[in-house]
Amino acid sequence: MTIPIVIAVDGTAASGKGTLAKKLARHFGFHHLDSGSLYRLVALGVMEAHGDPAKEADALAAARSIDPARGDDPAIRAAEVGNIASIVSAIPSVRAALLDFQRSFATRPPGAVIDGRDIGTVVCPNATAKLFVDARPEVRAHRRWLELSQVGAAPEESTILAEIVARDARDRARTVAPLKAALDARLLDTSDLDIDAAFVAALVLVQPSVENALKARQGG
Ligand code: CDP
Repeated sequence: MTIPIVIAVDGTAASGKGTLAKKLARHFGFHHLDSGSLYRLVALGVMEAHGDPAKEADALAAARSIDPARGDDPAIRAAEVGNIASIVSAIPSVRAALLDFQRSFATRPPGAVIDGRDIGTVVCPNATAKLFVDARPEVRAHRRWLELSQVGAAPEESTILAEIVARDARDRARTVAPLKAALDARLLDTSDLDIDAAFVAALVLVQPSVENALKARQGG
């Protein structure tokens, strides 16, 4: 059996982990999964069903009926969906319902890059390479504001800042799969780096492990 090659990219809200993960996937020719989109789809499902995101039965029903192929739906990018995603994602059975899909994605040849909060700690603890991406909250709020302004009317930057700080706090405090760096993750602070510089820094951190794994797969 081919040993899976996985790059786990975890980090705080709006830290740029998704952009980095996409670029890494393109660089290595690997598949990319934004695991946050799964939780956002669960949130959207609860909202569409007029359910209560804090109620296990409502959140679990939504988790069991998501279509991961809808991960590109612009509706899931709204700030409110992100906040509700952080409520449903604290429910253990919701996380369990999404685990098989993520673990099976991780085995896709020739390799996978998955970004999220618990990829290096829970979903793929044996990942080939692990990154934990962070940036100062003000920098993250500004980047998210720019991103949202490009697709429509963005909330005030101060509102976005308050939301991502609250979301990180909730993600860190939950008992199941909290937001935290795996002990063997390489830390990357992108506060003072633009996208290209962050990508180069990320590549320096993950390339040796990925190349070793590719060589081992080819038998030396
Ligand atoms: O893009 P952004 O960093 O704002 O968030 P996201 O990655 O789309 O994740 C939205 C929310 O889903 C997070 O705040 C977490 O509560 C939850 N999430 C999670 O619990 N575990 C993951 N692996 C990914 C996301």
